[in-house]
Amino acid sequence: MTLLAKRSIIKEDKSNIITLGAIAKEQKKKDPEVVNATIGMLYDENEKLFAYKSVDKALSLLSTDEKYAYGSTPGSKDFHDAIKKWVFREYYDEFKDLSRVMATPGGTGALSNTFANYLDDGDKALLPNYMWGNYKQVLYENHQDFMTYKLFNDNGSLDLADIKKCMLELKASQGRILLVVNDPCHNPTGYSMTEDEWVKLIDMINEISADGTPVILLHDMAYIDYSKAGFDYTRKNILLYKKLNDNAIVIMAFSGSKTLALYGVRIGAQIAVSSSKANLDDFDKANKFSSRSKWSNSTNLGMNLIVKIINDPELKKSFEEELEQSRKTLIDRANSFLVESKKCGLVTLPFDCGFFVTIPCNNPEKVYDYLVKKKIHIIPMGKVVRVTLSAIPLDVCKRLPKIIKEAIDATN
Ligand SMILES: Cc1ncc(COP(=O)(O)O)c(C=O)c1O
Repeated sequence: MTLLAKRSIIKEDKSNIITLGAIAKEQKKKDPEVVNATIGMLYDENEKLFAYKSVDKALSLLSTDEKYAYGSTPGSKDFHDAIKKWVFREYYDEFKDLSRVMATPGGTGALSNTFANYLDDGDKALLPNYMWGNYKQVLYENHQDFMTYKLFNDNGSLDLADIKKCMLELKASQGRILLVVNDPCHNPTGYSMTEDEWVKLIDMINEISADGTPVILLHDMAYIDYSKAGFDYTRKNILLYKKLNDNAIVIMAFSGSKTLALYGVRIGAQIAVSSSKANLDDFDKANKFSSRSKWSNSTNLGMNLIVKIINDPELKKSFEEELEQSRKTLIDRANSFLVESKKCGLVTLPFDCGFFVTIPCNNPEKVYDYLVKKKIHIIPMGKVVRVTLSAIPLDVCKRLPKIIKEAIDATN
């Protein structure tokens, strides 16, 4: 006998990342030699959670009201403007009237609102087959479902042919498409789309929506500011959104957790781009309703921190320099991991940059158990294990591949 409603009986947060992350954290507390490569946060070379000095400085400059007063549901105009300046950078003028912003608790809030307002009950979102698992949970919570596209073709590039096939299937079955793309530094693989792949994807969306079929591109850009190609490259890809027709809309999910290392503050944003004012007005109306009903308003502290950093030229400059340094740290760790992987014959899925690297294997759970015995904690998922490079220092990145290879060989 349960008092839960029917749909809630099966609800159980089975997220490996949270559960195994908590175990790793506990073990690390007892024994500093434990390697915790589970959780998606940035740690410094001394294995301490990394915080941006410029973010701390901005925090010290906020007034009591700016920190603790209620914020408005969609967020202030200053916040909207600051987010647009950050996300569009040199293309700000071109996009400022073609875009709208909604404050959300992290990127997760942006994903939740977008699913809620652009899919009907029972509709399926189109997700990559390697993915951040919480997409599925958010969809279930919204009474929705999913199908997956193959992220990679046989050449290790984005499988645009499979994306097209799935989009056409959904067009036929439900008359609308919501496609999720997590780029750059895809979680869990670290893949980043090429410029050519972006161009082809946008062309495909225009082609499929030309007859009036609504197509929503949900661009999960959680790791955008950690792309090794830098701001210019990632923003140039965003410029392609200007080519979309009025039957399509892009909604970007921005994460303050990742860009500013504000994980626990819970600040993020939905950023919609469309050349149709009606699409943008609809976006404002429906998402304001959803936000008000789910979390009432987002953290004023998080919003004002972002406003302060982006509007103060000196703080912005020092924050950008620190970000550059973090990117470099991640690149160095990834290079070490990949060089050592090559030496010992450990194969990873296509990787470009970011917080994670993923290794295919037949028995991920057994690999996990083997590694835990060696005091190494990673995340088994599907037919892969995910290693969080952002959380482990350079020397550990160097020594892990050999041990992971041993674990895979021993459990095959
Ligand atoms: C791919 C991806 N999207 C979105 C998020 C959401 O992060 P947050 O809600 O903390 O901004 C995460 C967090 O790990 C992620 O990895």
